[in-house]
Formats: sequence, C-alpha cells, structure tokens
Amino acid sequence: MRLVTLSMLKPEMVLGKSIYYRDNLVLKEGTTDLLRYVNSLKKLGIDYVYIEDSKSNGIEIPDAISEETRQQCKQVLRQTMEDFASKAVIDIEEMSGAINSVIDDILKNPDVLVSLNDISAADEYTFSHSVSTTVYSLIIGNKLGYSRSMMEKLAAGALLHDIGKILIDPKIINKVGKLEPEEFEVIKQHTTLGYEALKRCVNLTELSRIMALYHHERMDGKGYPTGTKAGELHEFTRIVAIADVYDALVSDRSYRRRWSSNQAVNYLVEHAETQFDVKLVSVLIKQIAIYPNGSLVRLSTNAIGIIKEQNKNFPLRPIVRVLTDDKENDIEPYEINLMELLDITIIESELEMSWSTVHNRGNQC
Ligand SMILES: [Fe+2]
Repeated sequence: MRLVTLSMLKPEMVLGKSIYYRDNLVLKEGTTDLLRYVNSLKKLGIDYVYIEDSKSNGIEIPDAISEETRQQCKQVLRQTMEDFASKAVIDIEEMSGAINSVIDDILKNPDVLVSLNDISAADEYTFSHSVSTTVYSLIIGNKLGYSRSMMEKLAAGALLHDIGKILIDPKIINKVGKLEPEEFEVIKQHTTLGYEALKRCVNLTELSRIMALYHHERMDGKGYPTGTKAGELHEFTRIVAIADVYDALVSDRSYRRRWSSNQAVNYLVEHAETQFDVKLVSVLIKQIAIYPNGSLVRLSTNAIGIIKEQNKNFPLRPIVRVLTDDKENDIEPYEINLMELLDITIIESELEMSWSTVHNRGNQC
C-alpha cells in the first residue's frame, strides 16, 4: 500500500484503505477504476488516497490503532460535539468505550513505528485531528509508563482539547488563507471557551480540562492564552501541545499541502526547548517512521525507491524497494537493506509530487 495524490492515480491502482465521510463508507478498500471518483473526492477536500499497485505490493503501513477503533472514536467525538453544540452537555461516559479501545490498541502494539496518516474530508478535520492527537498523546504517555487511569485522563483531555472551536464562528475556523490579527484573537478564545465548557462536565477531571486551556502554551511562555511557561504547567499540557502540532503539520489543509513525516519531525526538533518539551519530543519521534512505509524516496545513487519496511531502532536506514535506475528509468524492482549498504543514503523523502510530474511528462511524450 502507498499514499498518492489524486493527480497520480492510474487506471491499474486499487484503493488500499476505505474512505469514510460522516461515519459513512464512501469508497471501500479494494475499489478499482479510481479515476471515476476523483471529482467527488476533490469536492470532499480529499487530495490523497492509499492505494495498492504493483510498486507497493506487499508493503504494509502500520498504524498505532485499528481502523475500526479510529472510526468508532471519530463517531463518538462527533456525537459528543454535536450534543455540546445543541444541548451544551458533554457526556464523558459515552466516550469511555472509545477511549478504552484506543488505549487497548496502543498497549497491544507499543513499539509500532507509526507510518499512517489519517486522510479525511476537509470538514471532518476537527474529528480526525482530535483522534490522531489523542493517539500521539497516548503513545507518549505509554512510553512514560503512565498507569491506565492516567492514560484515560490523558485521552479524554486530548480528545476534547479543541472542543472550544465549536463556539467560534465557523467562517473564521474554516477560513482559507491568512487570518487577520483580530480573527486570530477570536481563534485563540477556543482555549478558554473549551475549558469553561469542560468545567460543566462533572465526570471529567481537572487534569483533562486543563489540556483544552493550555494546549497552545509554549515552553518559552510565548504561547496563549496565558503566556505561562509550559514547563510550569502539568506534563499533560506539554504532551498534547506536541501531539497537536505534529498531527496538524502532517495533515492536508485547505491552505497548504501536508508536510512529510520527516519535515514535521524536523520542525519539532528545531523548536524543542523554545516551544516544546525536549524530553517529550524525543519520546514521540522515536515512535514515528521518519521515512514512512510506502513513501517514495530518492537514494544517493539517484535511483528512486519505495520504503518497504523499517529497521527497528534505525529509522534512517529502512529496507527500500528500488524502482528505477539512476536516470529514473523504470527497472525490474529489487530490494536493498540500507542497514547492509551503509554507503547508500536517502537524500530526498516523500517524493510523490515531483516524481509524478516527471513520469506524467514522460507518458505524454
Ligand atoms: Fe487548539
């Protein structure tokens, strides 16, 4: 399986991962003739899909939680947020089943190197993002040795960290392009509004509530809403801050393309100490595949390959299926293990855009 942009779709490609919209199945895994659906997917704001083809045959893309758990969690969160919008109530009990499923999945598979990004429709972003933020937060919490009860509190806070956005004008939340300073001031209020809303939820602990209030605070005190140095705040708030930013960067948004895992990890590293807790950043990035399975890379030989598999503890030296020679001519694919060929390195990652341009041009000639 591999992730491609809609512009890269070819007739022989088969859908590798089902696509959902508002809890309904839009396209089932295994669907063929995908070019027919390009316009409908674009209308939903979906620009990437997971596909199976001969290049990616036999390549698995691991996720920290099962697809079923992810969908269950999104569904419960949507219901919770809709109830909150219409009745101003939040029933944490409704969420506990989904929260426990996410925790169970993460405990079952604690060493997985996460490669998969959740691809969802543009207006589903808040749900998909909140679930992914919860997953990354729990990955960190688990590696820190949190108890089950701490994991539950961390998950509830992460899942609801952006609930205040429901109370902000959707025109500002969904605005494409740069926000005016006064619009940004309005957006910032989602932290305090969320916290106030969660105060009315009796079954939630204060530890979970403060994640909504402080998830945009930064280590150097330059965050919002209070400008408190994050080091002075509870560890939960520093965890959710990292998880929130990482998932936002690797997600496709209306105003920018998703970043590669490599770019997003670099961003966290570059801003560790000033913005993020260094120790927690290092915990998370050890669990993320820098070069995700199924992604196209350029090797130092100039050949292009696709990441087949990770080598545990050596994220920069995975197993690569080589697809082209050094002139980018297609060849019979073969696999190399970069742990055994130390003179070869990866020099560019997640190449799909540039590579597809080269090959589309080639096809037209
Ligand atoms: Fe937020």
